Amino acid sequence: MTDITIAGRIERDDLDAILSTVYGEPGAVTRSVADNADAIFTWDYERSRPALSKLYEKAKTSQWNGSVDLDWSIDVDQEQVALANAMQNGGFEANLDLSGTAFEKWGDAEWLKVGIESQNWMLSNFMHGEQGALICTAKIVETVPWIDAKYYASTQVMDEARHVEVFARYLDTKLSGHYPINPHLGLLLDDIVAESRWDMTYLGMQIMVEGLALAAFGFLHQLTTEPLLKQLLRYVMSDEARHVAFGVLSLKEVYEDLSGPEIRERQEFAYEAAVRMRDRLLSQEIWERLGLNHAEQKQAIQLVMMSEQRQLFQQMLFSKIVPNCKKLGLLDAGDAWLRQRFTELGVIQFEDWVDTGEEYEALDEVAKDRAVNG
Ligand SMILES: [Fe+2]
Ligand SMILES: [Fe+2]
Repeated sequence: MTDITIAGRIERDDLDAILSTVYGEPGAVTRSVADNADAIFTWDYERSRPALSKLYEKAKTSQWNGSVDLDWSIDVDQEQVALANAMQNGGFEANLDLSGTAFEKWGDAEWLKVGIESQNWMLSNFMHGEQGALICTAKIVETVPWIDAKYYASTQVMDEARHVEVFARYLDTKLSGHYPINPHLGLLLDDIVAESRWDMTYLGMQIMVEGLALAAFGFLHQLTTEPLLKQLLRYVMSDEARHVAFGVLSLKEVYEDLSGPEIRERQEFAYEAAVRMRDRLLSQEIWERLGLNHAEQKQAIQLVMMSEQRQLFQQMLFSKIVPNCKKLGLLDAGDAWLRQRFTELGVIQFEDWVDTGEEYEALDEVAKDRAVNG
């Protein structure tokens, strides 16, 4: 256990606290968050950051149009998709002893419902996360003091609008229901938006939230046999790889000059974000929607946490975050505080995987398609 309060609680794995976390008024259509950062003009228009400049050029030529570059005429049979996913991936319940639990008597029909609700839940939270990225990146346009970063961030704002648009359209026309934002994801986005220090927006969004999203999209892209979602994710990932690179390239420069206590604050911020994202992945709302009471919901998330297949999946989602934190010097600074925390979370094994500073060119599927199709 850690020596700090994390995500508003002492025990990292306090399931009652995780389950009872709430976010906003039920049914509210908007949420206001005070943004405590100053908007910064710069009068230095010198193009002094070639890596960001190169990224900006790439972003300008690899834009795509969600309404015409995806084939929305494809019909999606959600039950078939859920069955195919379960066949390939196994439900989390596989290999678990369910005797004595609320799930003991569940059959194929109930687990199919879980599969369908999981899709609705996952795509809904991708959509909400994309809106978080839209707002955070608009904030970076205002707060970053470098002209090359303002230029690049403006292209990311467009990318994120497109991502919200395509996920919303997919949910509305191909799936069977929306979920409100997961409370742990919501609180994380609030923290990032409220921050006064401009580098924290990058750390929370580009490194942590988008690092996880890139890994999650990659996993789902591999898993799904549904052609529209596959193509949608392929294009979204092309953009996301640039976004994570934007974070790595920008923060590398900033973090070289920070003091020990300043770096420690960044380490704690990154760790809290990691815990909130771990909590978000427990997908507690699905069990509530399926009519389980509090005790049964707790049992469900306990089972999710115990499932070996789920643990592997959750660890994989940190496969971009950990090497990127290492590249930024956050893992081992001070007394290697963040290394210890990531070790406790069971994700340190990814530290030497490829970081995302340069990976975006190889992942540019939009450019590849244009080279083939002219
Ligand atoms: Fe995005
Ligand atoms: Fe993004």
